Amino acid sequence: GFSWKLEDHPKLPKGKILAMVVLDGWGEANPNKYNCIHVAETPTMDSLKNGAPDKWRLVRAHGKAVGLPTEDDMGNSEVGHNALGAGRIFAQGAKLVDLALESGKIYDGEGFSYIKESFATGTLHLIGLLSDGGVHSRLDQLQLLLKGASERGAKRIRVHILTDGRDVLDGSSVGFVEILENDLSKLREKGVDAQIASGGGRMYVTMDRYENDWGVVKRGWDAQVLGEAPHKFKSAVEAVKKLREGANDQYLPPFVIVDESGKAVGPVVDGDAVVTLNFRADRMVMLAKALEYEDFDKFDRVRFPKIRYAGMLEYDGELKLPSKYLVSPPEIERTSGEYLVHNGVSTFACSETVKFGHVTFFWNGNRSGYFNSDMEEYVEIPSDSGITFNVKPKMKALEIAEKARDAILSRKYLQVRVNLPNSDMVGHTGDIDATVVACKAADEAVKMILDAIEQVGGIYVVTADHGNAEDMVKRNKKGEPQLDKNGQIQILTSHTLEPVPLAIGGPGLASGVRFRKDVPDGGLANVAATVMNLHGLVAPTDYETTLIEVVDN
Ligand code: 3PG
Ligand code: CO
Repeated sequence: GFSWKLEDHPKLPKGKILAMVVLDGWGEANPNKYNCIHVAETPTMDSLKNGAPDKWRLVRAHGKAVGLPTEDDMGNSEVGHNALGAGRIFAQGAKLVDLALESGKIYDGEGFSYIKESFATGTLHLIGLLSDGGVHSRLDQLQLLLKGASERGAKRIRVHILTDGRDVLDGSSVGFVEILENDLSKLREKGVDAQIASGGGRMYVTMDRYENDWGVVKRGWDAQVLGEAPHKFKSAVEAVKKLREGANDQYLPPFVIVDESGKAVGPVVDGDAVVTLNFRADRMVMLAKALEYEDFDKFDRVRFPKIRYAGMLEYDGELKLPSKYLVSPPEIERTSGEYLVHNGVSTFACSETVKFGHVTFFWNGNRSGYFNSDMEEYVEIPSDSGITFNVKPKMKALEIAEKARDAILSRKYLQVRVNLPNSDMVGHTGDIDATVVACKAADEAVKMILDAIEQVGGIYVVTADHGNAEDMVKRNKKGEPQLDKNGQIQILTSHTLEPVPLAIGGPGLASGVRFRKDVPDGGLANVAATVMNLHGLVAPTDYETTLIEVVDN
């Protein structure tokens, strides 16, 4: 039968304190002026790279190695931390939605049957991120769903868009809205009353995460549900073009589309159906709560319409939220975190709010809460809110490192796990100078953690979840910076396809441990078995193979 008990590693001891450091958005790329990691002073990460060659390597962090549909899919924190924590590669949300749409199974499921009940008399509202970024959602999936729903009886459809500019180039929102408008006009020709009803930039409207700022969700609620916003337009293309004069895609203020008489065209009312289009959880959980929970005190909803609501996916397996969804999420069971607590490895995990769920929720297979609260402690350091992180690029790196240091020196935990957000969060702003400062701050935080490991005779594992700060410019097929029509370089705010570093070391690392040479394609999912070995345990047989071997010397 099944047992949580892992075998002892034949050569490696138990009981060493291990620091697991994840630099968010820290990939490896050619050195040039758009590589902020190269430009920044990063002596600690440099010393790992230039130290023992058998204790530093690259691992894959994008595409199929992390369960994404294609090799053109850049990595992201959800799939990266899922892979790191679960030790196996699961087909992820993007892929699962593709399959369900392709086979048509999405329309046979419980979620779609549920919302379909509203089609005869109510409006179908689709709320989500409008881009082809593939991190939270994809335009082609929205297009297929619009077609599928209208063919199955949806007669009145309202789309509430969130503009991107974070997983795709800033300024690309206009093109996406034009494509959507074109699709909707074709639906109208077929007699479906289909329109964009509201919008706003993802970072300012709706897509907050980990309860950093409920005001973001409220701004969305007012526009989407109540039909109220400071900006009113007749057309969404016009709205986005006009509002871009004062903000970039990520931060467009909320707007509603109004009819000739100035009335909002698509508030959500009793009897309607709502689908949140994003497959990724972190930035949809808050809205899902507002749409689903009868008891809710995070902001004044003013009206709480009686609707049929379904998520594209289930966003939180532990909370069972939302209760209805169109596609089942990957079943990520038996994660390394759960095994470790069953095998006596006490765990401390910490980050600041904007990445806290990454080293807990995503790490543990999209599961909130502890496996065993006697063995685990998760500490969240409040992030600065209401600012863009280029303003304070050091973020809470120092505070996170101090917490990790204290946890290591307390000797209470055998694994101390952190996420250092700087290179990702500041990289997403597209501010190159600030990103350089961010990378330096993350490097200093790594140093503080490695120093603590040195003091307790422990082991460190340093890696990243995907690339971002190592390349800040959009490149053509030849890899040269791509210029826009005004001859300006195009800043890359998104993640990349680059591999990430993986370094091991520390005084507690048994002599003879080194990276194997026979797993050249190793990816983030191989890290879990590696870490289990370093805790003196053999990984379950279905985990992706370990990256280390122990040679006699
Ligand atoms: C975001 O949600 O901020 C970006 O779309 C992806 O960033 P992350 O995957 O690093 O969280
Ligand atoms: Co990111």
